[in-house]
Amino acid sequence: MSDQPDQRDHLDGPPGDRPEVHLRMLVADDASWVTAVDRAAATPLAPAFDWEEGKLAAELDEGTWASDERWGWATIVDGEPRGFVLVTGLADHDAEMTLRISPKVRGRGVGREVLRQLADHHFSAHPELMRLTGRAHEHNVPMQRVFNAAGFRMEARYRDVVEHADGRFAAEWGYALTRSDWEAGRHRAGNQGYDLHGLTFQIEEVNEGPPSYGLHVRFLQEGRRVIARYDGDRIFDGEVAGILTGDLVRYRFVHTEEHRGGATDESLGRGRARVQRREDGRLEIVDQWSDERGAHGRRVLVQRFTDTATG
Ligand SMILES: CC(C)(COP(=O)(O)OP(=O)(O)OC[C@H]1O[C@@H](n2cnc3c(N)ncnc32)[C@H](O)[C@@H]1OP(=O)(O)O)[C@@H](O)C(=O)NCCC(=O)NCCS
Repeated sequence: MSDQPDQRDHLDGPPGDRPEVHLRMLVADDASWVTAVDRAAATPLAPAFDWEEGKLAAELDEGTWASDERWGWATIVDGEPRGFVLVTGLADHDAEMTLRISPKVRGRGVGREVLRQLADHHFSAHPELMRLTGRAHEHNVPMQRVFNAAGFRMEARYRDVVEHADGRFAAEWGYALTRSDWEAGRHRAGNQGYDLHGLTFQIEEVNEGPPSYGLHVRFLQEGRRVIARYDGDRIFDGEVAGILTGDLVRYRFVHTEEHRGGATDESLGRGRARVQRREDGRLEIVDQWSDERGAHGRRVLVQRFTDTATG
């Protein structure tokens, strides 16, 4: 087990391990692949813009996406056009960006590198710009992880702003990188440690103490602050709040426990969870806990594979 923060070498390691990413201005000739990437990149959490190719080519030709107020970027990955970014509000203090990356190159660190380059360019080129902002659907974990990795902070939750096909509404989370964050280099800090945000873990083995049948835990993380919700076969409404230092989360927990015969009571306690990366790329957590009644245990939880399968 390592006592070091996660190095995430595949994304923040030496240049030879990373895809080569650069941004250039969108031009009229890009309209064809932009409309194709727009359709391919669409997800229920980030729908397509659905441009008509000729209309988009005309807009690009007229300079609609290369003005003092708005800018369109092509994302070039290893020499091929693989995505685009639209930035609006550049004439104000707050600019907002939206990005799409082709499914072919997702999960290789392109998204975080795009945000870093956007911040470098726009904060240098626009002295009035104070905040670079973006939004992610409340279930869009890949985009939330990209914001975290590029030093953006979650600072707002906009309720009921996205309408889904079934008529239900969902929330979006608002993120920002400020000029002072950028000046402090937060967007390129990299290797900041483990990010448990949006990941789910399930019980793999219990080394000591009572069984934890069916236990699964889902994390949210913002900087060092970690919270989680958990349930098991006889455990309900579990809540964890903790602080991550290096590879160690020190936490408090509360949950409702059902005993044989159906009686329930509340359990309160504390624990120390050590995080490490396995050879197969998944994270695992070695958890030592104790409750107020003197019960204690040690167990291993492992990241559910599905966490990295979609995006
Ligand atoms: C969101 C998007 C831009 C991310 O681009 P990307 O190049 O894949 O980003 P990165 O590789 O830098 O990071 C993606 C992260 O999400 C993680 N991830 C992917 N799918 C996941 C899932 N289902 N659950 C949890 N994490 C997931 C990846 O593992 C990676 O995190 P990690 O390296 O810290 O483990 C891209 O997926 C996309 O274009 N999606 C569709 C459009 C969209 O959602 N746009 C955002 C709205 S503005």
